[in-house]
Amino acid sequence: MSVKSEFSNWKFSSFLENNSNKFNKHEILNILAKEDMDEAYQTISGWDNYLPTPLILLNKLSKELNIKKIFYKDESKRFHLKSFKALGGAYAVEKITKGNKEITVSTATAGNHGRSVAWGSKKLGLKCKIFISEYVSEFRAKIMRSFGADVIRVKGNYDNSLKECIKQSRQNSWQIVQDVAWQDYKLVPKLTMSGYSVMMKEISEQLNNQQISHVVLQAGVGGMAAAMVAGIARYLNYVPKIIIVEPESAACVLESIKTGKIEKISIEKESLMGGMSCDEVSLVPWEILKNSVSHCITVSDDYIAKTVKSLANCEFSNEKIIGGECSTPGIISLVGLCNDTEIRKKINLNEESNVLIFGCEGDADEELYQKLINL
Ligand SMILES: Cc1ncc(COP(=O)(O)O)c(C=O)c1O
Repeated sequence: MSVKSEFSNWKFSSFLENNSNKFNKHEILNILAKEDMDEAYQTISGWDNYLPTPLILLNKLSKELNIKKIFYKDESKRFHLKSFKALGGAYAVEKITKGNKEITVSTATAGNHGRSVAWGSKKLGLKCKIFISEYVSEFRAKIMRSFGADVIRVKGNYDNSLKECIKQSRQNSWQIVQDVAWQDYKLVPKLTMSGYSVMMKEISEQLNNQQISHVVLQAGVGGMAAAMVAGIARYLNYVPKIIIVEPESAACVLESIKTGKIEKISIEKESLMGGMSCDEVSLVPWEILKNSVSHCITVSDDYIAKTVKSLANCEFSNEKIIGGECSTPGIISLVGLCNDTEIRKKINLNEESNVLIFGCEGDADEELYQKLINL
C-alpha cells in the first residue's frame, strides 16, 4: 500500500480549534464520577464472556503517515454485539431496573444502542420496546427482535422515534433507557457513559506505559466521546490532545464548540455513519466536552468504503480488521490531517506522535458492510 499515492488527495471537510480548551480533571470527574466508572468496570468485567477488546497497531498506516504509532481499539469484538454500545445500554438496564421483572424497558435507537438495551433486557428476562426511525435498516431491526424486543418503526428521523418512545413510555409506564440526556433525565445517560468508560480502563492497561499524544473520538450525541474524556481523567495521568470527529452533514459538536453553547443543527442528508448522524449534542456530554476538546474535525462519506476495505485487506495493519462505517472516521480524519502540512504542524502531529483511534463497530449492519466492501 502506498498511502501517499492512494490517499494523498483525502481531505477533511472542516477543522476548528476550541478557544475554550482547558482540560479540568476535577470538573470532569464531578460530572462522571470515578466511583461510577469503577462500579461499571466491576459489573461489566463480571459478565459472562467478558474480555477486553484488542488494541491493534495500525503499523502500516503509521509508517505511511510518518507517525510513531496508531492504536486502534477494535470494538467489533465487544461481546457478540459488535460495537462499544454493548457496554452502555445493557449496563444501564441492569442498574436502573435491578432485574425487576415487572419493568418494561424502552428506548429509541439508530441501532447499536437498541441492540445493547435489548440484549441487557433479555439477560434479565425483561420485556423491551425499541423505537426506530425509517432510516434504521431492517437488518438492525431483525437483530433486536432476535433478542426478544418488540421493534416499533416510526415515520421520520431519530428525533421522531425518540418522541414516540417518550410518549408511549409515559402512557404505559415503561422505563426509558436512553443514551441521550435532557433536562431532568441525566441518570441513565450517565450510566451508559460509565459503561463506555470501560474501554478507557482497558486501553490504559493495554498501553503498557506508552503515552498517547492525540486521541480522535467519534461523536454522534457525544456520549462515547465524553465517556472517553472522563476515562482519560480517571485512568491516565496526562492529557493527550482530544480531537472530535463528526460527519460533515451532522457536525453538532463542532457547531456548539464554535459558539460555546449547544447548537441544534439541521441535517440535510443522513450520513452513511448512521450512529453519528445526530443533530444535537447531549447535555451531560456537552458539559464534559466543551472545555476538554482541543479540536473538531468533520469528514465526508466519500472515503468510508475505501477505509472499510483497507481495514479488511490488511492495508493498515498486519491483521484483518472488520470495521463498519462508524469505525472509519478516525482513520479518515487522521489521513486528512496528515495531508494538510500547516494543520499537521499546528497540532504537533509528527513522527513522535502516538495516536489513539476507535474502531467503534464491526459489521454490526452486515448488509451495509457487504455493500461497502463490494463497492
Ligand atoms: C456505532 C456508533 N454509534 C454511535 C456513535 C456515537 O456515539 P454517541 O452518540 O454517544 O456520540 C458511534 C461513535 O461515534 C458509533 O460508532
